[in-house]
Amino acid sequence: MKTVTLIKGDGIGPEISDAVMRIIEASGLEINWDIQTAGSEVIAEEGTPLPARVLESIKVNQVALKAPISTPIGTGFRSVNVQMRQALDLYANVRPCKNLPNVKTRYENVDLVVIRENTEDLYAGIEHKIDENTAESIKIISRKASERICRYAFEYAVEHKRKEVCCATKANICKLSDGLFLDCFRTVAAEYPKIKAREILVDNLCLQLVQDPSEFDVLVMPNLYGDIVSDLTAGLIGGLGVAQGSNIGKYGAVFEPVHGSAPDLKGKNKANPTAMLLSAIAMLRYIEEYEHADKIEKALFKVFEDGCFTEDLGGKMKTTEFRDAVIMNLG
Ligand code: NAI
Repeated sequence: MKTVTLIKGDGIGPEISDAVMRIIEASGLEINWDIQTAGSEVIAEEGTPLPARVLESIKVNQVALKAPISTPIGTGFRSVNVQMRQALDLYANVRPCKNLPNVKTRYENVDLVVIRENTEDLYAGIEHKIDENTAESIKIISRKASERICRYAFEYAVEHKRKEVCCATKANICKLSDGLFLDCFRTVAAEYPKIKAREILVDNLCLQLVQDPSEFDVLVMPNLYGDIVSDLTAGLIGGLGVAQGSNIGKYGAVFEPVHGSAPDLKGKNKANPTAMLLSAIAMLRYIEEYEHADKIEKALFKVFEDGCFTEDLGGKMKTTEFRDAVIMNLG
């Protein structure tokens, strides 16, 4: 039996985690969940929001499913999510974004993937106060990390039979840092003559995405732009409740929804578990449980085809009712 680290997170995390565990179990697949806690709830006892045991568990199992963990805004501890990605060198954040059956949005034919560099940029966490009224954050862009993520994007394009990789930067303004990222993109693109390489400024990308997202295929970009753009692309297909993600490294992977802990929905049985379920389906494919992944995906899509939605998608279903509808469709 495969062992997978499970971090249930906080806010809506435990509700959507439980829904996903129940669905996987109902599909007939037995997984040994190595449940690990992290975030504010463990600080008092363990002195840190990300104890070494959590990282150790992921290193040993080489795969994790993770629900969102809250980060205090402005003050408090550094994001557990960012720390985890850096500590495990999960350098590629992959966020596929594709229309779901019967989920009505402003756009049709969306089928793109945002590939975000996951370890540096402004997320390196190097910032300080110069004086009471001035703060400085340092943006790190290295050739090693930039070439690595661009190569990942082209390899992804080859593997998934995609035609184009588009690199988004602000190299007109951040000439050295984003300029280096773009230079790395051009170097790597030259190794993949069969994949079209395109360049765009990230502000223009946002404009083009909301005008005609079908124009885009694989997108690659530094960390901060990827964070923002992938929330935008989630909006193209129905919102954060349906946007999946994965963090891939050389020695393991952590699968998690794009969305946060949605404290406004905590304990209300209103969260859409789809993003977490799609992340879990991607995790099952990663561990080569293709049959169960396909079975669960089919059952999920059937729920949408039947017009059953949670409130974020204009429906009336509770999290648990949606979960049960997926389970019913597993046959
Ligand atoms: P959020 O993604 O939690 O919520 C934004 C909006 O989307 C809210 O209106 C929320 O109700 C809605 N939403 C999110 N997920 C949903 C779902 N599954 N079903 C239905 N509606 C959903 O973003 P916010 O409010 O900016 O962040 C809340 C907390 O989450 C913060 O502490 C933030 O740091 C953390 N966060 C954690 C992430 C992670 O663990 N990877 C990622 C993003 C944010």
